[in-house]
Amino acid sequence: MKIIGTGRAHPAKVVTNAMLEGFLDTSDEWIRTRTGITERRLISSERLEDLATEASLKAIEDAGLTPADIDYIICSNVVNEYITPALSCIVQGAIGAKCACIDINGACSGFIYALDMADDRIRSGKARNILVLAAEEPTRMVDWEDRALCVLFGDGAGAVVVSGGDGLIGSRLTTQSKLDCLHYVRRLEPTPYITKEEYSAPMYMNGKEVFKTAVLSSSRDIKVLLDKAGLKPSDIKYYILHQANMRIIEAIANWLKLDLEHFPTNVERCGNTSSASIPLLLDELARSGKLQKGDKILMSAFGAGFTTGACIIEWTK
Ligand code: COA
Repeated sequence: MKIIGTGRAHPAKVVTNAMLEGFLDTSDEWIRTRTGITERRLISSERLEDLATEASLKAIEDAGLTPADIDYIICSNVVNEYITPALSCIVQGAIGAKCACIDINGACSGFIYALDMADDRIRSGKARNILVLAAEEPTRMVDWEDRALCVLFGDGAGAVVVSGGDGLIGSRLTTQSKLDCLHYVRRLEPTPYITKEEYSAPMYMNGKEVFKTAVLSSSRDIKVLLDKAGLKPSDIKYYILHQANMRIIEAIANWLKLDLEHFPTNVERCGNTSSASIPLLLDELARSGKLQKGDKILMSAFGAGFTTGACIIEWTK
């Protein structure tokens, strides 16, 4: 596959660290030095499906296609207001496409899993143009009185359109079942027969464990992919890493002995937007003219599961 179009949509509401100081025992200094975040964009009056639709239409237009040309939609999403139907089905109706649709939940690595699935579908000849979308509202999973968590996240939607081509140099997906790293539990509707204990609770995260696992697993994924492709770290123009924390990005850059200019970021302006972070950043780079035909880009993400996903692509647009 190759990427032929990109798009993104952010919520209108900008929330700065100073605004959080108004109701949380926190400080701009603490948030900036521990995470690199200075502000984030949060859903207020919008619905996630509206952001997802806007990002999708922009990606389809950028690809020079119309919604009728899309023959499969894969959406990476952890939560939204609808448990069912899938967000991809809602977006399909909103953009006026007619194709089959599916959502996947690979947490913050979901966009890379979705790209990998799109590649398989194109290779098998089952689809020609696939909309790969990541739309996330992680700010709705956290307790807004928990200063350790609510300051970290932001919302948004990023999309790409892929079609047949030689843009994917390699990919790697891994999963280790680790519920104690990060989880979010919702109680389902009761029935007369439920006898087990059930509960709802906002997101739980062991920040230090996630930090360590993220640096180790992303570094390992990057090394495996570079070795397999016969590339040196400096052959990659941009490392588009999951935008969770500036210190994780810096640790990986140090380990690769590369200057930070190879590591574009949006975490400082957007917070951690879960699986939307990579396509949001990719679209920003593409639209600001920073990507040239032939550039090699390495995308690497980690998230709840614990999942990791990484791939090297060649920019072919
Ligand atoms: N403002 C001020 N103080 C805060 C705070 C906030 N927003 N959040 C936590 N603190 C306090 C803690 O209460 C603690 O105080 P104490 O020492 O008095 O107990 C202190 O700061 C240190 O907390 P700690 O949790 O040890 O900080 P940390 O250095 O581990 O940083 C994270 C916390 C979350 C920034 C860091 O662990 C991290 O980035 N982890 C990875 C998270 C991630 O990438 N998640 C994405 C998953 S996809």
